[in-house]
Amino acid sequence: MPHSLWANLPRPVICLAPMDGYTDSAFRRTCKTVNRNIVVFTEFVSADGLHHKAKKLQEKLRFHNQEHPIIAQIFGKNAESYITAAKYCETLGFDGIDINMGCPSKKVVKSEHGVALRKKPDLAYRLIESISTATKLPISVKTRLGWDSADDLITFGKGVENAGAQLITVHGRTYKQGFSDHADFNPLYALKRELTIPVIGNGDIADMSDGMKKLGNLDGFMIGRASIGNPWVFAKLHPANFSDKIALILKHAELLWQLKGEKVAMLEIRKHLLAYVKGLPNASEYRSKLVQVTSINEIHGILKALE
Ligand SMILES: Cc1cc2nc3c(=O)[nH]c(=O)nc-3n(C[C@H](O)[C@H](O)[C@H](O)COP(=O)(O)O)c2cc1C
Repeated sequence: MPHSLWANLPRPVICLAPMDGYTDSAFRRTCKTVNRNIVVFTEFVSADGLHHKAKKLQEKLRFHNQEHPIIAQIFGKNAESYITAAKYCETLGFDGIDINMGCPSKKVVKSEHGVALRKKPDLAYRLIESISTATKLPISVKTRLGWDSADDLITFGKGVENAGAQLITVHGRTYKQGFSDHADFNPLYALKRELTIPVIGNGDIADMSDGMKKLGNLDGFMIGRASIGNPWVFAKLHPANFSDKIALILKHAELLWQLKGEKVAMLEIRKHLLAYVKGLPNASEYRSKLVQVTSINEIHGILKALE
């Protein structure tokens, strides 16, 4: 994929958000089955961990050929680590590298990663510069409106652009808001007016038509939580009923089994299964069974009973 990935993608660019614990290769491929044009991001992976060749983190970056265009998301605050991580991502065949400057989790912020970089914009820009010169891959940044307001979003966006980033994704909430209130897209529209690089909007997008409504002057939108248990969020047409969903749910389970082996897959699929059946009138009586599944056959049986 050429350096100009972001400039060349058809508009609107539609992305599956990076979500730690959810958007592994199996889930990304499940979403790609529904809409092969979406851009997918890996779960965030520590640059320091990759620098130290941590096997577990290297495994987290595994992906399948069908996932292109696929972006590796990395977090960290150390340029040397980012450079090793970027070079590693390049050898794996990723189409881009996204730098996490938005994660609000306590552990991440305490160690001055994620959204904490918004408190140190000069470091943030230096990191982008170092990575951009070390790799041919396009660098993007994912962030929030700001620490406690959107006041410095445009300054930050310009800094990111000048440092060499080729795209910025903004979740329309501040760090302080966490996941409370509603995502506000107005500061994103204002940001887009000031930047040359593409801007992707993120936060509370319920489905494709909601994304189109909120798109405004932006280059695309990114969907996170609404895809959990609902990869069809990326489809133009939704399955009419639950039985039409079963084949893809089973495919998800099989992909996970291929990726992580039976034991881990059967543990990890459970939270997805609960999300898949959420809202079904008879789901509650099957929930306790779904959180104990140990085989694909068993999953099949329960889903059939839920039809
Ligand atoms: C379980 C979970 C894990 C997440 N992990 C990441 C992550 O690894 N990297 C990241 O940039 N954002 C992460 N996010 C934030 C999402 O990418 C997204 O910005 C946020 O959920 C808002 O979008 P939504 O309203 O469409 O879910 C995560 C969110 C959730 C709910």
